Amino acid sequence: MSVVDEAIKYIQELFKDKADGHGADHTMRVYHNALRIAKHYDECDMELVSLAALLHDADDHKLFKTENNANARNFLNGQSVGKDRIERICEIINAVSFSKNRGKRPDTLEGKIVQDADRLDAMGAIGIARTFAYGGKNGRDIDSSVEHFHEKLLLLKDMMNTDEAREIAEDRHRFMEQFLRELEKETGI
Ligand code: NI
Repeated sequence: MSVVDEAIKYIQELFKDKADGHGADHTMRVYHNALRIAKHYDECDMELVSLAALLHDADDHKLFKTENNANARNFLNGQSVGKDRIERICEIINAVSFSKNRGKRPDTLEGKIVQDADRLDAMGAIGIARTFAYGGKNGRDIDSSVEHFHEKLLLLKDMMNTDEAREIAEDRHRFMEQFLRELEKETGI
């Protein structure tokens, strides 16, 4: 089994009990988004992109109490991945976090791709579904979930690093605007 397949297996196990929109299904969508963007870049290191995408939430502070990317390192140390590559993967993961790096862009192509891939999953139909699923779980009503669109989700379109992601983001942005217009029409929110 390749190290990427091993990583898929690892995150399925790691996120087994998590279902708040940051679980294994989110990670798999980010992984597929990342591959979709990365294939436009010959110079892109596909293994780095794949592993960073798959492990990008493995040490998310909302889910795990780990320090220094311990879950990601734990997995990678058990695989045939060189020490320098492990460091590069952890750097990508750290550069991708929205809360830690608001406004900053990752330096590497691989980091830019994984950050775009993660942000795309907060947009469009899946972004809407995740927002209300998360809101419901945290006792947020529809009104305050809608605020989240204006505070964060509608800003993402202009934060994309790559042209490919920007194109996908524009479609997803239009869909969210259409949804909000329809919601306003039906409810006055
Ligand atoms: Ni994520």
